[in-house]
Amino acid sequence: MKIHGLVPAGLPLLILLLDFCLVLCGGRDFYAILGLPRSATTHQIKKAYRRLAKELHPDKNTEDPEAVQKFQDLSAAYEALSDTEKRETYDRCGEDCLKKEGGFGSMDPFQSFFGDFGFGFGGQERNKEVLRGADIVMDLFVTLEELYSGNFVELTRNKPVSKPSSGTRKCNCRQEMVTRQLGPGRFQMTQQSVCDECPNIKFVNEEKILEVEIEPGMVDGQEHRFVAEGEPHIDGDPGDLRIRIKTMPHTKFERKGDDLYTNITISLQDALTGFSLNIPHLDGHAVHVSRDKITWPGARIRKKGEGMPNYDDNNLHGVLYITFDVEFPKKELSSEEKEGIKKILEQSSISKVYNGFRMSS
Ligand SMILES: *[C@@H]1O[C@H](CO)[C@@H](O)[C@H](O)[C@H]1NC(C)=O
Repeated sequence: MKIHGLVPAGLPLLILLLDFCLVLCGGRDFYAILGLPRSATTHQIKKAYRRLAKELHPDKNTEDPEAVQKFQDLSAAYEALSDTEKRETYDRCGEDCLKKEGGFGSMDPFQSFFGDFGFGFGGQERNKEVLRGADIVMDLFVTLEELYSGNFVELTRNKPVSKPSSGTRKCNCRQEMVTRQLGPGRFQMTQQSVCDECPNIKFVNEEKILEVEIEPGMVDGQEHRFVAEGEPHIDGDPGDLRIRIKTMPHTKFERKGDDLYTNITISLQDALTGFSLNIPHLDGHAVHVSRDKITWPGARIRKKGEGMPNYDDNNLHGVLYITFDVEFPKKELSSEEKEGIKKILEQSSISKVYNGFRMSS
């Protein structure tokens, strides 16, 4: 389809044609597979892919005879739409056209772009014989906000990449038995190291952008594995790069599992007469807190569903525990004020002898 000659008036027609293209041009509807509109952003595509990949992985759907096909469709959809160039081609003329232009379908559906998502899929057992470079483990410090809402983080990796170089080098060295005839009926067997000659290579640093998705509900120590992005090995495969999630301390919230804890200081007046307030949550939404009853220092309330999202099911949330501290007034009270307060509270002085701290509960 030639676009150059089109006048603006032809544009609606072109759009119409594009819409029909999927039907006319053949191939799968990758947007439908991902459940997204054609206007979806790259991040939406990645998010949808991530969610569906977890859901549809054949290891988790052993009952479904179409599980492998569904997963492959999903991977193809992701491959086509996550890459700007491929997406453009696909939008223009569909899957068949994408295949014709080459370079499509090269992705191993079981080896995702984002590493293995930390779900430890089976079927990736490595041949122990193959030499491998070391894994690199890197901590990625993330905020609680990012773990609550999710985020995409770009990492620039300076990676040594092997390039052909002049000359040869010894490679694939192994021990072999060599038999030498010393005379009639006499042989000597010796072990010696035998190597092949390989073209020489050198390592050149190349910059590479890696994208890590911080998924809602991830926990400390969870890893993203970037296959083959670790240390290279001259005679074998590179190791993996493992990005490990580390939560930075937060000033307002503490996390335990999927639950969150926060403290609120209220005035003595509010503690006695009740209050209504909003506290901003990690994504900025307001959590409404109100009480009519008296609130004592150390009192704790539970807000269901206001904790962290659960990693496996982002629709489930933990509990938010709010603990109250009461700030007493510092001003001096006159004798009349004191009498007034006594009259209101009608609380006899505690006359018990000291019996240790009374735990508020
Ligand atoms: C809340 O207060 C307790 C007691 O002082 C403290 O141990 C805890 O770290 C505080 N939590 C937050 C989130 O600041």
